[in-house]
Amino acid sequence: MTAPAAVILAAGEGKRMKSDRAKVLHEVLGRSLVGHVVHRALAAGASPVVVVVGVQGDAVRRHLEERFPGAPLKFVVQEERRGTADAVRRAVPVLRKFRGDVFLLCGDVPALPARALRDLLRQHRRRQASLTILAAELDDPTGYGRIVRDARGRVTAIVEHRDATPEERRIREINSGTYCARWPDLVAVLDRIRADNAQGEYYLTDAVRELIADGKTVVARLHPVPAEVEGINSRRQLAAVAAILRDQVNARLMDGGVTLLDPATTWIDDTVKVGRDTVIHPGVTLEGATRVGKGVTIRSGCRLADTRVGDGTTVLDHVVATEARIGAACSVGPFTHLRPGTDIRKGCKVGNFVEIKKSVLGEGTKASHLSYLGDATLGRGVNVGAGTITCNYDGEKKHPTILEDGVFIGSDTQLVAPVRVGKGAYVGAGATVTRDVPPGALAISRAPQKNIEGWVERRKKRKGERKRTKK
Ligand code: UD1
Ligand code: CA
Repeated sequence: MTAPAAVILAAGEGKRMKSDRAKVLHEVLGRSLVGHVVHRALAAGASPVVVVVGVQGDAVRRHLEERFPGAPLKFVVQEERRGTADAVRRAVPVLRKFRGDVFLLCGDVPALPARALRDLLRQHRRRQASLTILAAELDDPTGYGRIVRDARGRVTAIVEHRDATPEERRIREINSGTYCARWPDLVAVLDRIRADNAQGEYYLTDAVRELIADGKTVVARLHPVPAEVEGINSRRQLAAVAAILRDQVNARLMDGGVTLLDPATTWIDDTVKVGRDTVIHPGVTLEGATRVGKGVTIRSGCRLADTRVGDGTTVLDHVVATEARIGAACSVGPFTHLRPGTDIRKGCKVGNFVEIKKSVLGEGTKASHLSYLGDATLGRGVNVGAGTITCNYDGEKKHPTILEDGVFIGSDTQLVAPVRVGKGAYVGAGATVTRDVPPGALAISRAPQKNIEGWVERRKKRKGERKRTKK
């Protein structure tokens, strides 16, 4: 069987979003609305995937080409909104030689699973249909096209809400706007569709009557989850679909062996991967290209974006990480900020109120409390004391700090970069290190301590005298 193609209608404006951005470019769960549709079409095996763009068409195209490098995407432009049949007609030139089945999809319906598309195609082929409509049953079908059937239950037409008679408006079986069509059969009737209706638009739904007139088979398949076929027209609907997408992602992860203690508050992008036996606590957000290994624990309130976490690692509460790598068997957090370029190797411990940027921590290295490490390279088994700061910025340039294997940095040390501390060296607490420390040395830099005996008593006495003279 030849692979199906897909045509995604994404030329609509989306005025009700009240946004400067094209509707289909609004992001939820790590993808734009149209990005979810493209992803699902590709997952259902569609090739090519033709996207009909209009409003901000260049932006939509650039966005999709960037997000789906190497995917079989094609773009066509519908300059003016003249109806869904007109939008599909724009795809005819790029699918001129295509003779198979085509998914017709809406760019603003992100929650329809790829599985539903594959089922739709299977039934379409089994019934040898020219058009299979994905239908849904709604309690309130207002606004949707209704599926009209004859006495024997065969589909005879789709009637748009505005063109429907009061009787037809009572039909609760609606057209979801998603279809599977035998492309040559559909193309043959597209030019016969007229804009003689309430909206003066070319209705794709009129293809039903035309195909039936040609003696072709048109069937409908009921999609069991109405919420998954809903289009997004407003911010409220965007929030509603975000919850549906979240539940879909979470269900997939749990089926794959991940424990989510509170799926309703766990927001994991569709693009994230999580290994089995990982446990995720309430209120965690995982974004973008984040990859979490096996047997990881992530406690509440963490947000990890484009971050890798190795097997068996524990990420304690309220860690924020962006473009960071955390190795296996580490402990990070609570309240740790890992910024881009952080590379924490196996078995490290990074504790509370530690900020790291563009730095490598070698195996088994520890920075347990209150530190800033920027542009630093730490070897294996380094111990960074509480309150250690790399002074990496001189107001103009960033400079590197190098701490070789086994270095011990005492608490409250400032490492003024560029600076290197050699293998196994010690830096005494409270140092300001401005020059390199040779391997095996001890660096101390502090004013010698002076103890002034009896000072407190003498001070009290002085204060007392002053009070008396004032009176
Ligand atoms: C369409 C169906 C209706 C169905 C409903 C489901 C028609 C005539 N009617 O109605 O039966 O119940 O979808 O949501 O098809 N688009 C373009 N160019 C256009 C017009 C639309 O690209 O000229 C795109 C829109 O951006 C959207 C999709 O096609 O992604 C559907 O358009 P929409 O305006 O939502 O169609 P409805 O009138 O709601
Ligand atoms: Ca719609």
